[in-house]
Amino acid sequence: MGELDWRRMTVRYIGSKARLVEAIMNIIGEPTNGSSHFVDAFCGTGVVSRTAALRGWSVSGNDTLLSATYLAEASLLSEEALDFSFFGSYQNTVEMLNTTPLVDGFIWRTYSPASSQFCEYERRYFSEDNARKIDGVRNKISEWHESGFIGYKEQVLLTADLIEAANDVANIAGTYGCFLKKWMPQAQGPLTLQPRTLFPNSIEHRMCVGDVFNITTDKRDTVYLDPPYTKRQYASYYHIPETIAYHDEPIVGGVAGLRPWKQIASPFCYKAKALGAVYDCIDRLEAQHIFLSYSSQGHVALSELLETLPRLGKVVLHELGKIGRYRPNRTAAKGNSAVEEYLIEIDKSEKGENL
Ligand SMILES: C[S@@+](CC[C@H](N)C(=O)[O-])C[C@H]1O[C@@H](n2cnc3c(N)ncnc32)[C@H](O)[C@@H]1O
Repeated sequence: MGELDWRRMTVRYIGSKARLVEAIMNIIGEPTNGSSHFVDAFCGTGVVSRTAALRGWSVSGNDTLLSATYLAEASLLSEEALDFSFFGSYQNTVEMLNTTPLVDGFIWRTYSPASSQFCEYERRYFSEDNARKIDGVRNKISEWHESGFIGYKEQVLLTADLIEAANDVANIAGTYGCFLKKWMPQAQGPLTLQPRTLFPNSIEHRMCVGDVFNITTDKRDTVYLDPPYTKRQYASYYHIPETIAYHDEPIVGGVAGLRPWKQIASPFCYKAKALGAVYDCIDRLEAQHIFLSYSSQGHVALSELLETLPRLGKVVLHELGKIGRYRPNRTAAKGNSAVEEYLIEIDKSEKGENL
């Protein structure tokens, strides 16, 4: 699958490595007899997991957000791993979802202008019809799963397709941290799910939802760490994909209608805690070979990392060069030059050596 296909099938995601993934994997390299399992411990959209899998690694992914693990898992599913026989094919199933009736549900009540009938805010994340469509499609996916017409993986794939379709018509400037007052042209078009090109062959993979501090790795695993590096908490910036993934009806608050997220606030997003969190995270991994993404835009200084990490093992700094960073919108992009991106390699089997 080419780069263009990949871009079409993913959501705009802060810190996505879509533009850097080839450079990252060129450094990490191919699986070997000694290490053939790749752990993408902060998987986000799964673009790195997918590229590692395409290069022959077996893959595990992890993220605190259920929606992220759905996006990542959907990108790793192959035709042969899926069973859509009840509806004929994956394409037919998506077609049925596209013609499913609209429903006045939670997304419509909470995130469309209809919200003004139920609370003090008129939220404009989605047009009323697109919000009703999200409710109708999400209900249908759950109903089919509960009735046994589709299995878990099929449910994940269709929900990821819905999250991506919703993202295409969301009235936002890149993230769900807030909605735009003025309707953007893309928010006025109809929401349409698009069947994706599935992964070419069946691969061994596992996705977990949880804190990176709770993951278990094997000594021989190769671990890729891409923690948040600014104060932006993913749980609040991506609260609507999360509600679509969970298909729940949380009590939301404020003008943005955030679902409760503080219980999964990330320590990596606090300047004062981030360096300690990176150190502890690497320290407690059983795996010996670790790669950490770093951007000069981050709130931990590179010099601090390079001073601290050698206590854990041999450290090598790989420069990936200046890359135009993902910007949520044009205003944010103005006046911002490209940032330096790095990959820091840590070999815990060789403690005490430096750079
Ligand atoms: C920079 S993004 C990863 C981007 C990903 N590599 C990609 O290319 O799409 C950081 C991710 O870390 C997740 N995250 C933040 N804190 C975490 C934690 N303590 N444990 C696991 N995941 C966490 C966020 O939800 C987010 O998806």
